[in-house]
Amino acid sequence: MSQSPNKWHQETIESQKSKMEKTVPISPLPSDIATLTLPNGKTIQLPVYKGTKGPPMIDITQLQSKTGYFTLDPGFSSTGACISTMTYIDGDKGELLYRGYPIETLAKYSSYIEVCYLFIYGHLPSQKELSLFEETMVSEMMINEKLIEFYKGFATDSHPMAIMVGVVGALSAFMHKDFDVNDPRDREQIAIKLVAKMPTLAAYAYRTALGLPIIYPNKKYSFIENFLYMMFSTPMNDFNVDKVIVKALDTIFMLHADHEQNASTSTVRIAGSSLANPFACIAAGITALWGPYHGGANEAVLNMLKEIGNKENIPKYLQKAKSKDNCFRLMGFGHRVYKNYDPRAKVMQEMCYSVLEKTQRANDILESQLAILLEQAALKDDYFIQRKLYPNVDFYTGIVYEALSIPTSMFTVMFAVQRSIGWICQWMEMMSEKVQRISRPRQLYVGEDQREYIPIQDRKEEEKSRVCKLPMHSSLFGLVKV
Ligand code: SDX
Repeated sequence: MSQSPNKWHQETIESQKSKMEKTVPISPLPSDIATLTLPNGKTIQLPVYKGTKGPPMIDITQLQSKTGYFTLDPGFSSTGACISTMTYIDGDKGELLYRGYPIETLAKYSSYIEVCYLFIYGHLPSQKELSLFEETMVSEMMINEKLIEFYKGFATDSHPMAIMVGVVGALSAFMHKDFDVNDPRDREQIAIKLVAKMPTLAAYAYRTALGLPIIYPNKKYSFIENFLYMMFSTPMNDFNVDKVIVKALDTIFMLHADHEQNASTSTVRIAGSSLANPFACIAAGITALWGPYHGGANEAVLNMLKEIGNKENIPKYLQKAKSKDNCFRLMGFGHRVYKNYDPRAKVMQEMCYSVLEKTQRANDILESQLAILLEQAALKDDYFIQRKLYPNVDFYTGIVYEALSIPTSMFTVMFAVQRSIGWICQWMEMMSEKVQRISRPRQLYVGEDQREYIPIQDRKEEEKSRVCKLPMHSSLFGLVKV
């Protein structure tokens, strides 16, 4: 790496080396055998793996070469894509562990920076290690001045997530040739630089959209304090750090840090599997996070609550969420893995009360009352009970951000900043694997069989437009609802 390593790098290369290697995923031994009988009566034995916790997994890597068959699992509901040591979710129990530590414990006693250290190095730091690490992270919060020019090019009403996709992707133009993605030391530096710069990039997206001067980070503040300082301070006044608000925001950052192989993390891993620039891979993750089915839900929840407007409308909106003749879903409810209460939502709900009280905004953020009534109504409704649809992390987050005067359009940007540590450490974990393979799933082809090419002068007008011949409603998958 040609760049001069920062203080942390120089002083800790050797001492961290052994710790970094420990986070390389171990390849588990098969714990059992599954026997598959094919339509032609042939059987094949497949190894079954049992992790430290969680469901057993059948290893199908040999299925195609040994039988010619593939598996089909659109949406990956039954598919494990990798082996990981970072995060574990028990959807039925509503449990979430970061490298073995329950999220509730970390939220109560730890900090976001400490969780970043935990994900990068695999263990919780000593006080000295933590102080040095935070000092290093804060020292990396500055961004290249030329990158600041990018913000001037966006339309004033650009969605901040569109800006983040652009500027984070642009980091790959400023940090490309200096890194060797195959060197663990360089991957560590990439992680530190990315996570440190995300709050700055986000704050600048907010400030430039409002025509406010950008505020440079300042070493006298902590990592989270610097984010608030860059977001809300003005050159005219001193900046007062409110410890309650800092702790609330720090906790929210921790809750969003990582979450197994969700859509955006899987996007980062797939992009990274082609050995693409890691900053460009993170931009791909931000893109995937933006959708309202994923990280965009926090913004969609608040917009939904504003649209519901009052408690009298709750039954109408519950009915709308249950009917299948529209695409409306109750934002902030349901989860692919949690079939119990999302443990992060519980912490967020408690946080919500404390921030509303601290900011004295309970009375003017009517959505906070509405959210509680909506949750109570949904949790009593058979449709939600039968489908095990509970509030997820996004249900209360927006109300807390509203109380912190963070604009709705910035909610998913907040999520992207917070999840950057999870994305980049999942990328590091993938890159540290002994066998590097590009992710390339297959498909069940239901299009046209080979057909004769008709020269254009001989073609007749089609009676009706030839829509693609996907099955109108494939009962097997229930996925193609045209
Ligand atoms: C995040 O993956 C992660 O870990 C994500 C995340 C993370 O930290 O990275 O936790 C963050 O993205 C949280 C989720 C935020 N999204 C929302 O709140 C959007 C609303 N929720 C849904 O769109 C939905 O619940 C998903 C996308 C979260 C999960 O979708 P699934 O697992 O594919 O579930 P599904 O679409 O198969 O739904 C199963 C049934 C269906 O009904 P039936 O066909 O059985 O009759 O439940 C229904 C769905 O229609 N359903 C809902 C619903 N969520 C599911 N019905 C109404 N409102 C909802 N919110």
